[in-house]
Parts: sequence; C-alpha cells; structure tokens
Amino acid sequence: MRVYNFSPGPSALPLPVLERAAAEMTDTNGTGQSVMEMSHRSRDFKPIIEKTEALFRELMGIPAHYKVLFLQGGASLQFSMIPLNLAAGMPKKQASYIDTGIWAKKAADEGAKYADVVVRASSKDRDYTYIPAAPAPNPLDAYYHITLNNTIVGTKWAALPDTGSVPLVADVSSCILSEPLDVSRFGILYAGAQKNLGPAGTTVVIIREDLIGKAPSWTPMLLRYDTHAGEGSMYNTPPCYGIYIIGLVLEWLKGLGGVSAIATLNQEKADLFYAYLESSKGFRSPVEKPFRSLMNIPFVRVEADPDRRADLESRFVKEAATQGLVNLAGHRLVGGMRASIYNAMPREGVEALIKFMEQFERKC
Ligand SMILES: Cc1ncc(COP(=O)(O)O)c(C=O)c1O
Repeated sequence: MRVYNFSPGPSALPLPVLERAAAEMTDTNGTGQSVMEMSHRSRDFKPIIEKTEALFRELMGIPAHYKVLFLQGGASLQFSMIPLNLAAGMPKKQASYIDTGIWAKKAADEGAKYADVVVRASSKDRDYTYIPAAPAPNPLDAYYHITLNNTIVGTKWAALPDTGSVPLVADVSSCILSEPLDVSRFGILYAGAQKNLGPAGTTVVIIREDLIGKAPSWTPMLLRYDTHAGEGSMYNTPPCYGIYIIGLVLEWLKGLGGVSAIATLNQEKADLFYAYLESSKGFRSPVEKPFRSLMNIPFVRVEADPDRRADLESRFVKEAATQGLVNLAGHRLVGGMRASIYNAMPREGVEALIKFMEQFERKC
C-alpha cells in the first residue's frame, strides 16, 4: 500500500514517475539497458541529460545566458562552492547573508571560510518564525545569499530583496518549481534534488554566465563552476540516474500544466491546511502569517503542560503512521510536527491528514 509521505526530504515522488522508472528499469528507450548501466558519454545517455536540461529551461523560463549544471555533493556543497567561486582570494571579498534558519546559518558559517561574510539580518530572536526585512547590500558585496524557503521552520520569503547590481544567490532546495520564479532576478539558484525534483545525489545549479570563471587558481578542480560549465556537467561522471528521474519528474510536471498549474494546486493544499490550523483548538502554526511556507508546514499541539504536550505529539506521530500518514515528526532541533507537502503530495493527502487531526482532537 502507498502511504501519504510527508517527509521533508528525501520526499515522495509522483507515482506515475516511479511506475515509468520501474517499467524502464531493465530496458530504457529500447537500448536494452538500465540508465544505471549506460556510459554517461554514450549516445543512449546524451538525449536523457539534454531532455532534462531542456525541460528545466522551459518550465522555469531560464534565460539563455544562464547555465544549468547537474552536480553532486548536495545543497550543502554549494555552501562552500559559492563563496569559493565568487569571493575567495587575498583578501576575501565581502558577501551578505540573511539568517532565516538552520540551513541559512550553515550556509553563512561555511561561507565565512572563503568570504568576508556579513550577516545583515536574522530572525533568530523569534525562533526563525518570520523573515526579517532585508537591508540593502553593500555595493562591494560579491553576492547576497538568502534561503528562499526554510524547510525546518516553515517560512518563505514573500518578496525578493532588491540587491541592485549585487548578484542575488538563493538556496531553493525546498521550493524549486513549486511556484513561478523570475530567474533573471538571481545570480545563482541551487537545490538538492531530493524534495521537488528527484532522488538524493543530484544538485541543480542555475548560474548566470558572467559569474563563472572567477574562482582562484588554487580552487579544487571539481569545486570550480567553470570545470562543470565547460563540459556540460560531464567533466567527470554525473549522477546519471538522478538526472534521468528528474527528467521524468519534469515531464510529469509539464503534463500537469507546468509551474503555474502546480502553484495553484500547492496554494490550495497549503490554504486548506493553514485554514484548518487556524480553526483548530488542538493544533496551531508557530509561523507568522505573511511568511508561511507553501511546502513545509510545522505545527504544534496547543497544550500548557510541556510534558503532556511532548507526550501527545509523540503519540500523534505514531498514530498517524498507523493510518498511512508518515514522517510527520518535526525536525529534531525544533520538535513538534511538520507536514511537508511538496509538488508530489496530492490534495487527497492533505485532506486525509486534516481528517486524522480532527479525529485526534476529538479523542485527546
Ligand atoms: C533549504 C535547505 N538547504 C540545504 C539543505 C541541505 O541539503 P543537502 O542534504 O542536499 O546537502 C536542505 C536539506 O534539507 C535544505 O532543506
């Protein structure tokens, strides 16, 4: 039986994608091979990576002067590659970061090894339950880094900061392709695949061409954007199977009507769930309204006694799992519960969760 999987990542993939991958497992496109067995430089694999990139460009409206790179190392490796490529040197260049949660902080901490990092605003004072006002960048900044959707705390930037001529760099790991995004506003967008795109192991980087080729000569070969951009993500063996699955996910998304169609569905799912939380006496959202994420919705049990609250929350997560509603525990650092409702989560999954929560409220 398929469950409704609310995992923050790796996350649920669309069933038609999994079924197609299963059907093509031993013979893809009449080649008599699995994608896992193909040489990445073969005539069999070339159309697969080309199709995935073309669909990305089409669905996201990526301008021609941006490269799309398929890398490894997760979004976390971008925390290092961005400062290494854009700001490292003697002296280090300055870069602005906005601290909106655990991933944003990790990006800034790692960035500080290679860039002169200035954290220009933070929402830590209220447990990251809002997005702070974004100060203007210093014109000398090499870049300005934000985390567009904060997976753990469930916030998103409602409007993009105006960074003028300073390249805006955004971690879009948990919101890529969830709603329309004007790529031309950014210098770099990056995302680990394991939420809205495909399996873990592939990282997608969308980078404006003028930002490529700035790394100091001592930068390790595989950590340079120009290494990968110059070879069409084929300097070394790319994550072939992940790229293939991402292509299937993008085809599925195109079939649904593309990003604007999925954005409408995502908004409906999130509206439904937030409306329930607003009306509930048993559960509430800790996040301030203007900044609520469409993708990750943390919630807590309304309970004065902290021990009873912890007991009920743990019971909630366990009982939900017995009903096929899995992976609802909040992040280990923040507790509570969290429903991640990425593109592949159908509306029925959100409805089933609300129904279960109503029953739980009546019982406890
Ligand atoms: C917003 C965000 N950034 C970065 C990461 C880290 O990604 P990875 O595990 O691919 O390095 C995550 C993982 O959940 C995330 O949600």
